[in-house]
Amino acid sequence: MIIAPSLLAANFSRLAREVTRVNGSGADWLHLDIMDGHFVPNISFGPAVVRTIRPLTKLFFDVHLMCSKPEILLEPFAQAGANQISVHVELGDGVTPLLWKIKSLGRKAGLAVNPPTGISMIQPYLKQIDFLLIMTVNPGFGGQSFIYETLPKIQQAEAWRREEGLSYHIGVDGGIDFKTAAECAHAGADVFISGTTLFSRSNFAAAVGKLRKIVVCAHVKSAGARVSTATRRARTLHLQLL
Ligand code: DX5
Ligand code: ZN
Repeated sequence: MIIAPSLLAANFSRLAREVTRVNGSGADWLHLDIMDGHFVPNISFGPAVVRTIRPLTKLFFDVHLMCSKPEILLEPFAQAGANQISVHVELGDGVTPLLWKIKSLGRKAGLAVNPPTGISMIQPYLKQIDFLLIMTVNPGFGGQSFIYETLPKIQQAEAWRREEGLSYHIGVDGGIDFKTAAECAHAGADVFISGTTLFSRSNFAAAVGKLRKIVVCAHVKSAGARVSTATRRARTLHLQLL
């Protein structure tokens, strides 16, 4: 279970202190939202900011490119210190070369999918990705409400991963609080990106710890449920064979 605070919700007037706060909190990744004002109706920050904060922490830098022309940004972000770079499946035909390029730069490759886009769009790329980023809000802004219609996508992504013996992470991004995180964990997610919920707490480490406890619990319960369903199915099959 990976907890990834989203820097978008930080106080940018004291960015270094905010990064240090995440660093000491027990979080696993730092999620970095890059918006170009074209793919999404907002602008955030670029490689220069990522390069500036890189020396402050050893956290895994998870760069989420919400950009129409990610091809011009892959090298700059890789050089700035990204460990993983995700592009959006909505870009269409150019996705495979982008994933190859990310890999050739020695970085993990992620693919993001917006709420209105069908999960079937992701299926052709499953073997090429390290990370599947399921957007649980329409990208562009922090602090939005979780879209419940995205839950079946998590279940489908988890079923494909299990059935095909793949090992990509399944992340959820947008409106993740203590309640929605549990629901996503139950559906099969294992990376929890959270901005507003974590950064609004004065005790950041306690919030990360609470989120982790909740998702681990939900995961254990749902894994148990999956095992008992499989056992039930096997028993039925066994009885049918007798
Ligand atoms: C939305 C971004 C998210 C956002 C999540 O476009 O991709 O990463 O920062 O923020 P919260 O947790 O506030 O919804
Ligand atoms: Zn994001």
